[in-house]
Amino acid sequence: MQHNVLILDFGSQYTQLIARRVRELNIYCEIKPFNKLPNDLDAFGAVILSGSPNSVRGEDALHPDLSNIKGKKPLLGICYGAQYLAHFNGGQVAQSNTREYGRANLSFIKGGETFFEGVNEGTQVWMSHSDTIKELPTGAVHMASTHDVENAAYRIEGEDTFAIQFHPEVYHTTDGKQILKNFLVKIAGIEQSWTPDAFVETTVQELKEKVGDDKVVLGLSGGVDSSVAAVLLHKAIGSNLHCIFVNNGLLRKNEFDSVLKQYEGMGLNVKGVDASARFLDALAGIDDPEKKRKAIGRVFIEVFDDEAHQIEDAKWLGQGTIYPDVIESVSATGGPSATIKSHHNVGGLPDFMKLKVVEPLRMLFKDEVRRVGASMGLSPELLGRHPFPGPGLAIRILGDITEEKVRILQEVDAIFINGLKEWDLYNKVWQAGAMLLPVNSVGVMGDERTYEKCVALRAVESTDGMTADWVNLPYEFLQKTSNEIINKVKGVNRVVYDISSKPPATIEWE
Ligand code: XMP
Repeated sequence: MQHNVLILDFGSQYTQLIARRVRELNIYCEIKPFNKLPNDLDAFGAVILSGSPNSVRGEDALHPDLSNIKGKKPLLGICYGAQYLAHFNGGQVAQSNTREYGRANLSFIKGGETFFEGVNEGTQVWMSHSDTIKELPTGAVHMASTHDVENAAYRIEGEDTFAIQFHPEVYHTTDGKQILKNFLVKIAGIEQSWTPDAFVETTVQELKEKVGDDKVVLGLSGGVDSSVAAVLLHKAIGSNLHCIFVNNGLLRKNEFDSVLKQYEGMGLNVKGVDASARFLDALAGIDDPEKKRKAIGRVFIEVFDDEAHQIEDAKWLGQGTIYPDVIESVSATGGPSATIKSHHNVGGLPDFMKLKVVEPLRMLFKDEVRRVGASMGLSPELLGRHPFPGPGLAIRILGDITEEKVRILQEVDAIFINGLKEWDLYNKVWQAGAMLLPVNSVGVMGDERTYEKCVALRAVESTDGMTADWVNLPYEFLQKTSNEIINKVKGVNRVVYDISSKPPATIEWE
């Protein structure tokens, strides 16, 4: 029995969610574009067809050849997937008369005993479609309806083919996970054996085989992904992993020393390189955000390359790339234009250095990286760290950068972040930081008038940084933090709190 699940993506906004739900069941799955069926279909124990913004009736309908799958493997069509299985197998799909978005309640009809086991009549499901299945395909058993959707679920007699018009992967389908579990475990017989421990065990074995006695160079950033990637590689190849942690002078206060110590405590073979002066020199006089990013990227590559060359016979570059960065996305028109994003902090390195790339986390989502890290004993502090941009404080100092501005912002940021930790707010916030604004404003301190810097504090909640909202921090906390900043950080006389959401604002100010 194969224990991998194949998810064929027809361009739905929810495809990644399907994968996450399946993984939450401790079942491994991979997403592939609908038009790129893998050659090794035998490796998969079940197949799921995603939804799609397209219509099966349109000229641009997406219809891959499923003849090696349908009737031969357990198959579940979701939304477009269900319509696809109807339309091309003797059923009829048409535009629906009523809007079918949002919640609905399921009524069972027949033949869904196993598929809907443990799910109650009337359970809430989430719909999002404008076409509907008017007539079921040949051999269909009508399993369930909702008030507006007659053919909400069916299966094909004599096959392990199932189809549902609603989305089991979204949170608002109350029993969605149970339904996926019934399909994958009860019907397809897939084992729920894909745990963080199992991932570590198989990945370490694979890394040993892939890398052998070669040396690997890896750039640590202090963040979760590169740290977990390093620990995995370290487990596999020990001291043949050479980590480089570069201080670009734009890290948080004391970050370089404390993170370096932490890495050394974890037994990693890590070299800390303090290149602050080189970065600050390269940034002198530059106030355009993109030029700052480019300068930092360029110096990083130079520094990293200098260091990597000192490691004789290094053959591989280790990277902490994760799954959302490598999933090939299906464009809304269904065209084959697949895009693969590059890892934005170290993009360009592999070509430049002619090293082979090893990416032990490339099949994991962010929350899975954290769980794998926890299973290897990484500290909750490291795993729970807020994201921090590669260019660091450079994009939080608006305008040009000087050592003095970096110092001021480091002090302000440290008071804010330590305060969040003391008030037990740090883990309730997705990302937080301070911005140094390019304005001076008037203040009074004692009997003196001052004309000093203004800083903005920002704390947001988010799941992936794509959208975000500001966090309603307690007034008492803001009051105390503002006082402490103005009293302790020389050069700052005004603190503001950013209450903009993304969109239309962004998280960073540059
Ligand atoms: P924005 O400002 O675009 O930020 O809303 C979204 C997320 O991306 C981070 N960010 C960056 N990360 N290099 C990075 O490595 C960058 O140039 C960069 N710009 C923004 C930001 O911190 C947030 O988590």
